[in-house]
Amino acid sequence: MRNILEVQDVKKYFPIGTNVFSFLYPGKKEYKKALDGVSLYIQEGRVSVLVGESGSGKTTLARVILRAIDPDSGSIIFNGDNITKKTGKELRNFRKQAQMIHQDPYSSINPLMKVFDIIKEPIDIFYKEYSDEERTKKILAVLDDVSLKPSTVFAEKYPHMLSGGERQRVAIARSLSIEPKIIIADEPVSMLDVSIRGQILQIVKQLSVNHKITVIYITHDLTTSRLIGDEISVMYAGKIVESGSIDSVFSNPLHPYTQALLDAVSEPNFQNVDKEKVVRIKNFDSAPAETGCKFFSRCPYSMDKCKIEPRLENKGQNHTVSCYLYDKE
Ligand SMILES: Nc1ncnc2c1ncn2[C@@H]1O[C@H](COP(=O)(O)OP(=O)(O)OP(=O)(O)O)[C@@H](O)[C@H]1O
Ligand SMILES: [Mg+2]
Repeated sequence: MRNILEVQDVKKYFPIGTNVFSFLYPGKKEYKKALDGVSLYIQEGRVSVLVGESGSGKTTLARVILRAIDPDSGSIIFNGDNITKKTGKELRNFRKQAQMIHQDPYSSINPLMKVFDIIKEPIDIFYKEYSDEERTKKILAVLDDVSLKPSTVFAEKYPHMLSGGERQRVAIARSLSIEPKIIIADEPVSMLDVSIRGQILQIVKQLSVNHKITVIYITHDLTTSRLIGDEISVMYAGKIVESGSIDSVFSNPLHPYTQALLDAVSEPNFQNVDKEKVVRIKNFDSAPAETGCKFFSRCPYSMDKCKIEPRLENKGQNHTVSCYLYDKE
């Protein structure tokens, strides 16, 4: 299978702002290493999950991929094309192919506009050549795609007349309207009622299957990732520590951090997780190590050589891990 997106060694450091205590540390500039050399390969037409704890850099990575912020270094290759430095028309052309669905359906759609106009907005921008009839047809079709039926009725509603789940469907329909090749959904169901999370994720999954859209699903919730994902990448402190197919990673987690994440899940559909492989992490509140393996201080297996950073290595069938435990010698 072809990679539609390749993130190559991307770094993004945010300066930690000066404050009233800055005089204590003259000349010292500090940075938050939000992304510290991320490499990620996303297969076309599949649903890839990006999982990691709060602050691990997931949203920052999404924003860098969509060119909402620029990385400090590294490259983003989309459809074989390096888009890291693109501007103007070329950047616009990329933006037409990549869409984001946000966590909060309340803030991502305009409360003063009818559903019809909310969805029409991006079509007006990217498909200027469409006739009014083509626009209307497209709007009703995407409402159907997210199961807001009858679409003619939903098109006339205002956001306050919709439930949270329906609003998130509108946001999905809106991103779908410009026929993107890739959608990044950043915690799209975490603000919704648990009972409807599955439905919304099913819709996202169907988009990938029916429209051949590549989806990156960002979450810190492993249980929902099982419902929708084909592949998974695990992020810890600005790095990908493990990547592979969902089945391979869940049945044979290699990185001690992934093992600890799976250990924390007590869902019935995780019964096939090999409990021999799960570990308890230590020093829960310790900060990630500055050099070497970032999981060093929390890892029950840390060794001397972990002070030198391990690289992501393929351990077979595209299951990659950055950990010395699996070195042959
Ligand atoms: N614009 C910014 N300026 C300074 N620091 C930032 C900025 N954006 C993000 N950060 C920091 O970078 C780190 C990664 O943030 P990010 O939002 O990417 O995490 P996340 O994995 O999406 O977390 P969550 O699961 O809570 O959404 C955090 O420590 C955050 O405080
Ligand atoms: Mg986030």
